Amino acid sequence: MNESRASDTPLPGIDASRPNIARVYDYLLGGKDNFTADRELAGQLLSVNPGMEQWARDNRAFVVAAAARAAREGGIAQFLDLGAGLPTHPAVHEAVREVNPAARVAYVDFDPVAVVHSRALLAKGDGLAAFQADLTDPEAVLADPDLAKVLDLTQPVGVILGGVAHFLSPAVMRATTAAYVSRICPGSWLMISAGHAEDEGPLSELRPAYTAADAFRHTHEEFTFFFAGTEIVPPGIAEARRWIAGLTAPPPDHGLYVRCGAGVKK
Ligand SMILES: C[S@@+](CC[C@H](N)C(=O)[O-])C[C@H]1O[C@@H](n2cnc3c(N)ncnc32)[C@H](O)[C@@H]1O
Repeated sequence: MNESRASDTPLPGIDASRPNIARVYDYLLGGKDNFTADRELAGQLLSVNPGMEQWARDNRAFVVAAAARAAREGGIAQFLDLGAGLPTHPAVHEAVREVNPAARVAYVDFDPVAVVHSRALLAKGDGLAAFQADLTDPEAVLADPDLAKVLDLTQPVGVILGGVAHFLSPAVMRATTAAYVSRICPGSWLMISAGHAEDEGPLSELRPAYTAADAFRHTHEEFTFFFAGTEIVPPGIAEARRWIAGLTAPPPDHGLYVRCGAGVKK
């Protein structure tokens, strides 16, 4: 038991005057864990592309649906949620515990606010952990003592990279996913979603407004390559509403959508 990471741990280096990825996304999802700077940036983004709000909802729907599917179809009982963000309902553990009440989840984010809020939410939960790390450093993530408390890497694991790939260059994403895939055992699931647009237009409009991070547009080939070493499950790499069985609402009409997929390690 490690009490040094309690939810009331002071937050070093938090600057509420600067917008941040996790809190902007929280605001877009209707959450309350955000500051004025985050809301102002979200407002600017929405004025450039009103589809951002729907994008966030679709992205979240994919994360929850993919995790539940991995639990149901793949029998996955433990999950590594990379770039997990601020707690959102349903959280990944809530979604997968509908399938397997004993499922375990490790939440990882490089944002200290997201991690502290996750810890507060998880304080009383068995089989749950949240820790701060850069997901592009798989060795550090996988060696974190908090991960070892809830995940057993000799067993299949569901690795989730929800709504984070567009912040990483194709080369970094390739290296990152290759490293995780090499360390997880056969039968493990890899689930990835990212913002996407068919042409540069929507992203080149959003980029100057999105001051919290870089934004990359990956080609279909690049996105597919992130799943190297896995077998991609139906319906393949798809727009989120097509991926989520039964979700038949028309795709968003703002040129911006969620591209996603899941693969099972061979
Ligand atoms: C758009 S939110 C997505 C949250 C959640 N995964 C979802 O899909 O609903 C992206 C999250 O990734 C986190 N993030 C971005 N780059 C990261 C990195 N290199 N390491 C860890 N977390 C990162 C941000 O702090 C933010 O919380």
